[in-house]
Amino acid sequence: MTDDHTHTHVLDFFTPRAADWDSRFPDDGPAYAAAAGLLGLRPGDAVLDAGCGTGRALPALRAVVGPEGTVLGADLTPAMLEAATRAGRGAEGTLLRADVARLPLRDGALDAVFGAGLISHLARPEADMAELARVVRPGGVLALFHPIGRAALAARQGRAISDDDLRAEPRLRELLAGAGWRLESYADEDDRFLARAVKQG
Ligand SMILES: C[S@@+](CC[C@H](N)C(=O)[O-])C[C@H]1O[C@@H](n2cnc3c(N)ncnc32)[C@H](O)[C@@H]1O
Repeated sequence: MTDDHTHTHVLDFFTPRAADWDSRFPDDGPAYAAAAGLLGLRPGDAVLDAGCGTGRALPALRAVVGPEGTVLGADLTPAMLEAATRAGRGAEGTLLRADVARLPLRDGALDAVFGAGLISHLARPEADMAELARVVRPGGVLALFHPIGRAALAARQGRAISDDDLRAEPRLRELLAGAGWRLESYADEDDRFLARAVKQG
């Protein structure tokens, strides 16, 4: 399923960070819950957390779709999924080791995809966004979220913000349009990045 040789950088980066991932960001829970609440999901819906990591978003996603809904968390890095299991996130949804470039899901299976901190790590972002569009029904939603805005993240990482950044609004709008999504709202604030797009019919 997974083309590991093209993802060495992802595994090298996230494997050593997995064990203490949650403890590095202990205060993010409310921001994830607020973002999950903006997906427009209803009880019984099906949602994927793409690049779920330790599954921090899964409790919030479960809360919006309810016990009859479907929550999936997919990630490439085994250590992140192991940390998710240790944190009990497997009780909130089904954890899968999968590359977002090739998801083991049928066309239109989902009502929404949530992706936190994902897009800047993707090797082929447009193809990967197209694969996410494939598994979502027309009218379904994609939310690209980060609990920190672009400028604040750049400052934390000691670099300048750049218009070449995939998450800059014009670039993201174009990238998503090429992948079957229409960008509907965009917020880039100090404590939140949230881009919401709708799957085109
Ligand atoms: C910055 S972390 C965010 C994790 C989690 N969403 C969160 O907010 O805590 C990015 C995650 O994306 C995963 N990832 C990167 N590329 C991926 C791909 N092609 N398919 C699936 N997961 C991927 C990494 O393994 C990592 O766990």
